[in-house]
Amino acid sequence: MINVEHIRNDFPILKTHISKYPLVYFDNAATTQKPISVINRISDYYSNENSNIHRGAHYLSQKATEAYENARKTLQKFLNAENSHEIIFTRGTTESINLVASSFAKKFLNQDDEVLISAMEHHSNIVPWQLVCEEKSAHLKVIPMDENGELIMDKLDSLLTEKTKIFAITHVSNSLGTINPIKEIIKKAHAKNIPVLIDGAQAVSHLKVDVQELDCDFYCMSAHKIYGPMGVGVLYGKEKWLEKMPPYQGGGEMIKDVTFEKTTFNELPFKFEAGTPNVAGVLGLEAAIQFVQKTGIENIANVEDELLHYAYGKLQKFEKIRFIGNAKNRASLISFVFEDIHPYDAGTILDKLGIAVRTGHHCAQPVMDFFGIPGTIRASFSVYNTKEEIDIFIKALEKVREMFG
Ligand SMILES: Cc1ncc(COP(=O)(O)O)c(C=O)c1O
Repeated sequence: MINVEHIRNDFPILKTHISKYPLVYFDNAATTQKPISVINRISDYYSNENSNIHRGAHYLSQKATEAYENARKTLQKFLNAENSHEIIFTRGTTESINLVASSFAKKFLNQDDEVLISAMEHHSNIVPWQLVCEEKSAHLKVIPMDENGELIMDKLDSLLTEKTKIFAITHVSNSLGTINPIKEIIKKAHAKNIPVLIDGAQAVSHLKVDVQELDCDFYCMSAHKIYGPMGVGVLYGKEKWLEKMPPYQGGGEMIKDVTFEKTTFNELPFKFEAGTPNVAGVLGLEAAIQFVQKTGIENIANVEDELLHYAYGKLQKFEKIRFIGNAKNRASLISFVFEDIHPYDAGTILDKLGIAVRTGHHCAQPVMDFFGIPGTIRASFSVYNTKEEIDIFIKALEKVREMFG
């Protein structure tokens, strides 16, 4: 059991008031708030360790390099990767997916090949694949979902063909909350020798992820969605793929030798980390992972699941409410619409009452099109949220309903 009040004290921003109302922060799927340990780690780095890494013989450079490489090992353990050089630091999930799409396609995607994605992807796991398919005259295929927001798994076998070169799918949907059965999916794809990329942006803060157990080929995550800073993330990739893939960007750090005639590339993971990395961000991410490990991912999930069920129970009473996404297996977010109120109007009133929820298409326009709606109101819960905050949210929604009749 964890003490949520104690945890709340670790997050300075939760003491914020929006005019006279205490902040109720239910926009955790967009970004989580940061504990003081993460904020302090970043500040400590700039106060005591700031130096460029890997290339200096001096004390500070060595200290910063050691801290950065230790963070890689922390991430390796967190995801249970076999090797630390399978952990590539990126700017976030978006860049991790773009890296794979671009580099993998250069080597392995040819005319008339297929890339498979799902109907519930974030734009970050659609557009990079569209770009490379266009470039290579390949085709983007989509596994459909049903009205509950669950994948139609019966369709999978026929969509995984000898033309499919890679299958890229989200672990948890950011617009519906659906947790996809990725272990089963990976097994089916591997039976046909098709590699699988998992978009883990919404999963890592809620579920224990073990990339060896899942046997995924790539796993992507963003620090800022798991209590870490913005602008940093991770690409896990199996060594056998990363070794074969060409560099994504050229520059310093990713080379072994450069002449004007020819460049030889550095070994993993540096081949994919061109330029000066976000050292402070990586150290902030490490502190965030340590926060999760100290709190316990199962404990976090239990708190979030309890909040999800409590909120769901309370929301049922509203008239003209339609839940978007009713998957059996889901993470701690609820998407819904009032049939007679635009989500943006509801969001504006909630904001005036100190409540931060996300309204709109959540970078998943094909999902909104599928349900025939412009967007949803999305409340997403984290370990520091409380049932009292949900009660405040419900009262505010009652006001919204009163105002719009
Ligand atoms: C499922 C999913 N994938 C990808 C992303 C993109 O993450 P980032 O903007 O941190 O790169 C998000 C962000 O909302 C997401 O929810």
